[in-house]
Amino acid sequence: MADRRLPYTPILARLPPLVPFVGPEALQRERGGPFRARLGANESAFGISPVARRAGMAALERMSWYADPENYELRAALAAAHGVAPDNIAVAAGIDDLLGLAVRAFAAERAAAMTAGSYPTFAFHVAGYGARLIEVPYREDHVDLDRLLDAAVAGGATLLYAANPDNPAGTWREAADVERLIERLPPGMVLLLDEAYAEFAPPAAIPAAGVLAPNVLRLRTFSKAHGMAGGRVGYAVCAAEVWQGFENIRHHYGMNRIAQEVALASLGDPGFIAGVVAAVQAGRDDYARIAARHGLTALPSGANFVNFDAGSAARAEALLRALIRRGVFVRKAKAPPLDRTVRVTVGRPDERAILAEVLGAALADADRGSA
Ligand SMILES: Cc1ncc(COP(=O)(O)O)c(C=O)c1O
Repeated sequence: MADRRLPYTPILARLPPLVPFVGPEALQRERGGPFRARLGANESAFGISPVARRAGMAALERMSWYADPENYELRAALAAAHGVAPDNIAVAAGIDDLLGLAVRAFAAERAAAMTAGSYPTFAFHVAGYGARLIEVPYREDHVDLDRLLDAAVAGGATLLYAANPDNPAGTWREAADVERLIERLPPGMVLLLDEAYAEFAPPAAIPAAGVLAPNVLRLRTFSKAHGMAGGRVGYAVCAAEVWQGFENIRHHYGMNRIAQEVALASLGDPGFIAGVVAAVQAGRDDYARIAARHGLTALPSGANFVNFDAGSAARAEALLRALIRRGVFVRKAKAPPLDRTVRVTVGRPDERAILAEVLGAALADADRGSA
């Protein structure tokens, strides 16, 4: 009989079978009902701006049209917001899309460096484009910028990934440290500075200038503060040459027309975003109090989530399972040292109350080993 195996490329043929992301929907199907609180995916609990909502409803009327493949209006508005030219803005379907473009453009079949256990989608693209992954451990729950660069140089990486603030750590490095890293980047190395949580970070963590250097891409998203995770809109602030390079490989009609218009309108409602940021700050403080009441420490966070330190990976895993069983969707880091924590997205006050209500019993389950 003829050989009917699919002719996967050598890169894909080498990859193990994988289900990279188990979403809350899959977990709900497993448990046979909806979660009481959805606090596991770092989505916004605070919705979208009412101005953006109206723009989205109107945009629905134009659903039969393709979106502008240049994303012209959105790029122009983002350029104005960042004090750069429209050609310094690369728009794509979320940061995740940009990570894929950047890996394909700069690291395919070469090498890329990241912090072990940091945002997994970068590692996913590195594997998918046949690049070698160089990993460096966290230092005291923080990204270790110096060691990351040293390892990237030693390993011949062409791409270096650092999230600031980091996910899953939630911790951040100061802008001055990021700028020092950029000064030290050798020729032929690109930095992907993932600023998905920039809006929630202390101002001192975020460099002020728009384009930081020709070989630096600052990645931003509408998924967090703008409440548009399901809309899939992200962008890079970068050199015009990067945008031109991406023109050869990007999915030109990959943007959702409605999301494009909602994002544009959301940019025009900064008061709403400021309200979300204040609500997230209040929620982080609330989580610190809830954690303390149960004898846990909350790690400092510059993002829209807080890590509850359970003291050991086994206890954190048991607590995670107990919370999920009690209807609270949360996630946890898989790699040390953060695998000792449970990561909880900042919810609305009513969602935080559900967490506060079940946390004691979930901890008791975890400690009894019955979770
Ligand atoms: C560090 C980091 N980067 C990127 C993303 C994804 O962003 P987007 O929704 O724009 O793809 C996330 C989402 O959780 C994240 O934590």
